Amino acid sequence: MTNWPELDSKYYMQTIVRIPVTLVRGAGARVWDDSDKEYLDFVGGLAVNCLGHCHPAVVDAVTEQARTLMQTSLWYYTVPMLRLAELLVQNSCLDKVFICNSGLEANEGAIKLARRYGSLKLNGAYEVITTMGSFHGRSLAMTAASGNLKMHEPYPPLPVGFINVVNNDITAIKSATTEKTCAVMLEPIQGEGGVNIPADDYLKMVRNWCDEKGILLILDEIQTGIGRLGTLFGYQQYGIEPDIMTLAKGLGGGIPIGALLAKERASVFTLGDHNSTFGGNPLTSAVAYATVKYVIDHNISGNAKKVGQYLMKALIILKNKHHFITEVRGRGLLVAIEFNSDIGSEALTACLERGLLVNRVKPNALRLIPPLIISDREVDEAIDILDQALSSIGKKGVK
Ligand SMILES: Cc1ncc(COP(=O)(O)O)c(C=O)c1O
Repeated sequence: MTNWPELDSKYYMQTIVRIPVTLVRGAGARVWDDSDKEYLDFVGGLAVNCLGHCHPAVVDAVTEQARTLMQTSLWYYTVPMLRLAELLVQNSCLDKVFICNSGLEANEGAIKLARRYGSLKLNGAYEVITTMGSFHGRSLAMTAASGNLKMHEPYPPLPVGFINVVNNDITAIKSATTEKTCAVMLEPIQGEGGVNIPADDYLKMVRNWCDEKGILLILDEIQTGIGRLGTLFGYQQYGIEPDIMTLAKGLGGGIPIGALLAKERASVFTLGDHNSTFGGNPLTSAVAYATVKYVIDHNISGNAKKVGQYLMKALIILKNKHHFITEVRGRGLLVAIEFNSDIGSEALTACLERGLLVNRVKPNALRLIPPLIISDREVDEAIDILDQALSSIGKKGVK
């Protein structure tokens, strides 16, 4: 059998410590490795595979569109891109769409749009306030936008114009706002930062502040959008509407795509301001259309809410059993388990050995981001494995 890790270290840039398993196929909420070992997948391609692996709606759309038309460039009208834009507008509070290829590209577009707004309507204001613990992508600008100093350190000088302030603190945003500010950019719930849930009234206060100052509110819903929190978009849970919203991850059900959406008044790009070779191509647009349509028609967000509540109840029981769990938190199917010490990797390995994939989101925390189609039975199975895995760690004497 080929030694895949060896090939990886020989040919692939080493930017991540990979989990020692080579995945070769998937179906629903399950994946199999190259020795045919089965795993229950509570990572879901990093909150991407909202319909699970190889869902027929996704596979059929890929196959049909691949046989029809894949790439044309944005110089031409194409049907899937326009159907997707219409579907997103008709099901959100936003009015205009630009389709791109990834999360960071959607966020780059959002920042360009906010700066354009600043230059046209706010006397050249260009600064964007973001929060500590946020993650917005890996381009240079999104590295600067992300509130994580470890990400900043290797790449000086970073683009200017991003002010990272304390998360979940309206006074921090207020004090950072100046005549140079054109927007505030937030994740409704910080995902990569550890599933950090804001106070119930935080987003409302930020919305009010943006209105008071005439600046834009950008919501990065790359992780929280497309049903993850139990509603189609995260903003619906907080009683606010963003001026600009970005999507990716779940949008394509497994294929790479991103989207930038804006309210009419914030949609200030004019001819020549923005473009993308692959953005809005028929292939990815058709797949995203099929994915979002399925999510809406089958109330997949409702399943995420229901199963998410079931998962949370089960995790609270686990917390009462394993004293080294300090907190379980989440909304819908974006959930974290935090420990009183840095046993995240150990817990991940113990789960892996028993056939469950989980994500170590911080040294002391696991994140559960399964496909949104999972059932209570699959949650029971995952909880069983987590319980055994944590018991094995407990036996080793974790305090
Ligand atoms: C909230 C958020 N924004 C942006 C990104 C970046 O998306 P991508 O990796 O597609 O560039 C991510 C990825 O994890 C994310 O969670």
